[in-house]
Amino acid sequence: MTRQTKLAVAILAAGKGTRMKSSLPKVLHVLGGRSLLGWVLHGLRDLAVDRTLVIVGYRADEVKAALAGAPGVEFIAQTEQLGTGHAVQQVLPHLEGFEGDLLVLNGDVPLLRPESLRAMITAHRSQHNAATVLTARLPNPKGYGRVFCDEHHRLTQIIEDRDCTPEQRQNDRVNAGIYCFRWPDLAQALPRLSTNNDQQEYYLTEVVDYLDPVVALDVADYQETLGINDRKQLAQAYQILQTRQKDDWMAQGVTLIDPDSITIDDTVMIGPDVVIEPQTHLRGATTIGAGCRIGPSTMIENSQIGDRVQIPFSVVTDSRIGNDSRIGPYAHLRGQAQVGEGCRVGNFVEIKNATLGNGTNAAHLSYLGDAQLGERVNVGAGTITANYDGFQKHKTVIGDRTKTGSNSVLVAPITIGQDVTIGAGSTLTKDVPDNALVVARAKQIIKPDWQPKPSQSAASSTPTPG
Ligand code: UD1
Ligand code: CA
Repeated sequence: MTRQTKLAVAILAAGKGTRMKSSLPKVLHVLGGRSLLGWVLHGLRDLAVDRTLVIVGYRADEVKAALAGAPGVEFIAQTEQLGTGHAVQQVLPHLEGFEGDLLVLNGDVPLLRPESLRAMITAHRSQHNAATVLTARLPNPKGYGRVFCDEHHRLTQIIEDRDCTPEQRQNDRVNAGIYCFRWPDLAQALPRLSTNNDQQEYYLTEVVDYLDPVVALDVADYQETLGINDRKQLAQAYQILQTRQKDDWMAQGVTLIDPDSITIDDTVMIGPDVVIEPQTHLRGATTIGAGCRIGPSTMIENSQIGDRVQIPFSVVTDSRIGNDSRIGPYAHLRGQAQVGEGCRVGNFVEIKNATLGNGTNAAHLSYLGDAQLGERVNVGAGTITANYDGFQKHKTVIGDRTKTGSNSVLVAPITIGQDVTIGAGSTLTKDVPDNALVVARAKQIIKPDWQPKPSQSAASSTPTPG
């Protein structure tokens, strides 16, 4: 791509998306961790773009807020949505005197690969086209504008599905809604648009009548051109995206057992030699280190997992797990749980906003909330941090190498020292110093050869007949 030609991008995102039957603007519907509009912007990542113009209208404030973090985006208001051509007409005052190319992208076409965009711009410039239209041959072209061209791919007409004759509808070459225009030519054509069509809207596609030459470029993978107009197409796009991403991960050395049952957000990073078992879902800003075994049936969201970690049948959100730890089955980590290296968090253990030092084990049936555990602590089965007094959450601190007995209740706020041994069944309400043995439970009473007294048996035994 020659660098001297400038490139502006206009993304059409003002429509309501009636067919979604949603109060959310269509372009904000989410597909694997990113909104449709987020995907369109993400598709620009490899291009040298001088201006990025997003045309907003329906619920413009929400759309703007969703893109607040995106650098360099300029918003252009289309207060009435009178069609895709009308949307691009709004760009006119903003690109006055601009001499470069304008890439126009539909905000509801999220699967386009950066390579396809690059190839289109390269072709557009090397062929000196006034406009290049990305097209695809679809097995089911229903709903799309049909593209008519000669044998040299010179485009003559784009006719919307609803405006086609039954014969024209047989044409399987569709308009992807992705165009590259020589801007000065487009700026001349835009004011000439009519509303002479079934919807009485200004169609952007009509500009091809006023530009020359217009060339159709078929995309290699027709799946990239899927436009999202309803929930079914949203689900189809998710499938396509997932297949694409899972194929990429397998190519990079990740084993997926039964890939169809696994979902992986685009925002997830996975190290080499990871094995992902069936029914596992990786979401949000999650990273999985090398050599991990995740699943079966595990969900991990916004979490950082070290190397060689095993996590079967568990849920981990907003948490961090160190190298060589084993989590689950049936563990739940959430709310900034920080598990160190070589730890063991076992069956039916919930950890919330708690830190476990290296080599600490909580193997069975525990709740550890708002707690700070040192290294090589052994949390006995059924240990509970009672962190909530009905009004506030309180903290539990447990020193290195301490062993909590089975079924201990640690009533926070409480600090247990290092090398402490807690007797099973203890309920602790006071701090314990280092190196202590602490037992806090009713003493066991044994009465040998004991028989219930008559008064007691009357209350509990079955009535005697008579
Ligand atoms: C459009 C194309 C069609 C193509 C299809 C590809 C036209 C007339 N038709 O049809 O040829 O096959 O995309 O997916 O362009 N928008 C605005 N302002 C408006 C109207 C729409 O910003 O006034 C935005 C929408 O938010 C959407 C995009 O433009 O992101 C496309 O609009 P949509 O109504 O979905 O067009 P299609 O009927 O799918
Ligand atoms: Ca559409």
